[in-house]
Amino acid sequence: MTPRGAFIAFEGIDGCGKTTQARRVADARDALCTFEPGDTALGAALRAVVLDADMGIDAIAELLVMAADRAQHVAEVIEPALVAGRDVVCDRFSGSTLAYQGHGRRLHLDSIRRVLEVATGGLEPDVTILLDCPVGIARARRADRPTESDRFEIDDSFSERVRAGFLELASATASWRVVDAAAPEASVARAVDDCIAAAIR
Ligand code: TYD
Repeated sequence: MTPRGAFIAFEGIDGCGKTTQARRVADARDALCTFEPGDTALGAALRAVVLDADMGIDAIAELLVMAADRAQHVAEVIEPALVAGRDVVCDRFSGSTLAYQGHGRRLHLDSIRRVLEVATGGLEPDVTILLDCPVGIARARRADRPTESDRFEIDDSFSERVRAGFLELASATASWRVVDAAAPEASVARAVDDCIAAAIR
């Protein structure tokens, strides 16, 4: 029987450098590199809806759209790859929903966990790397990007709650590791690799 692949997730506030690290780690491991929200055909449509500032989306509706994206992503992309023995590196997973919709939007964390259990069938990453950095540093990095800010990137106090939520989750969950993402990129990369090597083969 083919051994299951390893499932690695990256989390953090917008601008923390997740995408760079996720791609680098995936390349090094020849892993499938994927992201949420939006990395299926259904997910791309849902992403457009949930990032659209004109939609006036309610916080619970937002939670359920994120969950629908994740359910499709797990069923169509992540689980089949893991079963086939391929490692999967995911840029955001359930931690983002707890941090953004829970701590950011202040929805009830236990209700979110129940929704996530349904969406993922209980699938959790073998290791989650939280790239933590101050909100001001992340904002400055985002300012260098060609794309415009999305609905989640407007308000610093929202981002502060999301950051604190991520740190709380990391301290409460054995499979999470925190890396100082304000450090120079080479030392971030080294710390990420050390965390992954210590957590999985
Ligand atoms: P992402 O694609 O990581 O942002 P970027 O376009 O900067 O690469 O995620 C888009 C937004 O969706 C981001 O602000 C965080 C938010 N989000 C949630 O609120 N809940 C979730 O469960 C997920 C996966 C993302």
